Amino acid sequence: MTAPAGVTVRVPAKVNVQLAVGAARPDGFHDLANVFLAVSLYDEVTATPADELTITCEGPDADKVPLDRTNLAARAAELLAARHGISPAVHLHIAKDIPVAGGMAGGSADGAGALLACDALWGLDTSRDVLLEICAELGSDVPFSLVGGAALGIGRGEQLTGLPVGGAFHWVFAVADGGLSTPAVYGEFDRLTEGVDVPEPTASPVLLEALRAGDTTALAGALANDLQAAALSLRPSLAATLTAGTEAGALAALVSGSGPTTAFLVKDAEAAESVAAALTASGTCRTARAATSPAPGATVLPSA
Ligand code: C5P
Repeated sequence: MTAPAGVTVRVPAKVNVQLAVGAARPDGFHDLANVFLAVSLYDEVTATPADELTITCEGPDADKVPLDRTNLAARAAELLAARHGISPAVHLHIAKDIPVAGGMAGGSADGAGALLACDALWGLDTSRDVLLEICAELGSDVPFSLVGGAALGIGRGEQLTGLPVGGAFHWVFAVADGGLSTPAVYGEFDRLTEGVDVPEPTASPVLLEALRAGDTTALAGALANDLQAAALSLRPSLAATLTAGTEAGALAALVSGSGPTTAFLVKDAEAAESVAAALTASGTCRTARAATSPAPGATVLPSA
């Protein structure tokens, strides 16, 4: 008997070029105006038939990835199987390149990747709308991992509208030692804004126009992350990383999502190389990675 074929899906990381955060809602979530941009750092999720749901992971940070049912990839397989009344009999292998717990939606990427891989493996042909519904159930950032490109997320970030992007943007991402818990960063945001009248989050027209025009200088001036103060409060050492990247020539620097990965917008690929080298040499981060945007969403790769 020949070995059963697997399905591999490649899924991008994201950076939030604008993350406007409103006050905490009664359900504990925060209303957002979340401008997502997919970047060219990818995880790959491979689904193969198995007797029961199992997960393995490879990559430099593999030891930090949970291999139980708390992994969003496992939950994606379970939710999809439940929708179709079948058993989630699958082995999921994650080749992890996106920083873990870094504010780049690596866990969400694996959820979206597993969903698409299982759908193809099981020949379910689930509609895009249902896949997006399952993504939203998995987590606020998961729908964007499926869709990729650029999008504005409202609600808790899961209600997406695609955005036009007029050109490539170049980035460097500085990966910190250790992760930051997203709920802890939102909790710190609540603490820092206690007694403050937090405005309704809205997308910046200047930022949306910079994306549409592919204008790096304009985007650099418009980058904004309302979680940055909270991430810096929990991890003050990130300030030195932001300074090191700016001093090395980045046009702008900000915390990526809830951190602790920091993002540096640079002029071109050459600047990305020199800023990445300077950040690595600065000793203020574990490693630095160059990437471009926009990147496509979750994609089934041709079988080898
Ligand atoms: O949706 P997700 O599971 O990724 O959210 C993780 C945590 O991040 C939530 O439990 C909540 O504490 C926080 N969060 C939030 N508001 C959002 C998205 C996430 O408060 N819009």
